[in-house]
Amino acid sequence: METKLGNIVLKNPVIPASGTCGFGLEMSGWMDMNRLGAIAIKGTTREARYGNPQPRIAECGATGMLNAVGLQNPGVDEVIAKEWPALRAVYQGPIIANVSGFSIDDYTYTCRRIDQETDAAIIEVNISCPNVHNGGMAFGTTPEAAAEVTRAVKAVTAKPVFMKLSPNVTDISAIARASVNAGADGLCLINTVLGMRIDIRRRKPVLANRYGGYSGPGIFPIALRMVNQVSKACPGTPVIGCGGITTAEDVIEMMMAGASAVEIGAANLTNPQACTQIIDRLPQLMDELHIDHLQNIIGIA
Ligand SMILES: Cc1cc2nc3c(=O)[nH]c(=O)nc-3n(C[C@H](O)[C@H](O)[C@H](O)COP(=O)(O)O)c2cc1C
Repeated sequence: METKLGNIVLKNPVIPASGTCGFGLEMSGWMDMNRLGAIAIKGTTREARYGNPQPRIAECGATGMLNAVGLQNPGVDEVIAKEWPALRAVYQGPIIANVSGFSIDDYTYTCRRIDQETDAAIIEVNISCPNVHNGGMAFGTTPEAAAEVTRAVKAVTAKPVFMKLSPNVTDISAIARASVNAGADGLCLINTVLGMRIDIRRRKPVLANRYGGYSGPGIFPIALRMVNQVSKACPGTPVIGCGGITTAEDVIEMMMAGASAVEIGAANLTNPQACTQIIDRLPQLMDELHIDHLQNIIGIA
């Protein structure tokens, strides 16, 4: 089940996605964390953030959910001083730090701190959060802005930098190529798809933020298509495939589309053991499909 993200070796491709496992401790009561391929922790910003007003979750039946959490996090000081050591006490594998910002300066400040003060394996730069104003997704919707953030972050860290891309664009390949040309070591996609629900009795949007990010099984075909497009547009660049994965079958499909590893998000919120159950099932499924090594199927379709 081993796979690689650049030079980082993962014992399996399964990674809980940023924002769906907090800083890891939430999961430690449900599973042996050390079975995970890696873990992507909650988006971290320079200052602490309370996030958006409630309600900030809207369920969408079996197809998934909308969230407008708004990057709630305790800020980089506390993440480094408290959350990181607490996670390290229960988990020794690769940690993917997820960073967000509202200016280039925010991104570089937080990435430099993480570079110097943690043992992060990868810095995942979120330029795709749809739930905050004046930041987040704004950096991920034009090739120029994506390249600018990438260049700035690469200048302050020697760690591998993976840019996390938004599906809320016309041509994701152009943004992927611009990020890679600016120095990105890898790409992670997709973040959530901008959506909305209305409470027809109250005649008002369900989310206090009005719009939110849609994730879960309903976005799987979109994510798969985008991972395939991006992996073809950026040959040789490792891609983490994310969006709607709930089963081991989905993991195989995402890897056949071009992903070297996968992140699993909304599935953790309905089943906190989703990741380890997928890891349990993978070897049996690989046998059924005559797959000797997962690395042999990356991009095969
Ligand atoms: C409640 C929630 C919070 C999230 N927070 C973040 C975040 O802080 N940073 C980030 O890059 N993505 C965040 N995401 C996006 C997920 O990491 C993932 O890209 C997206 O949900 C698609 O995957 P899924 O369909 O498996 O959920 C969040 C998603 C959810 C559902």
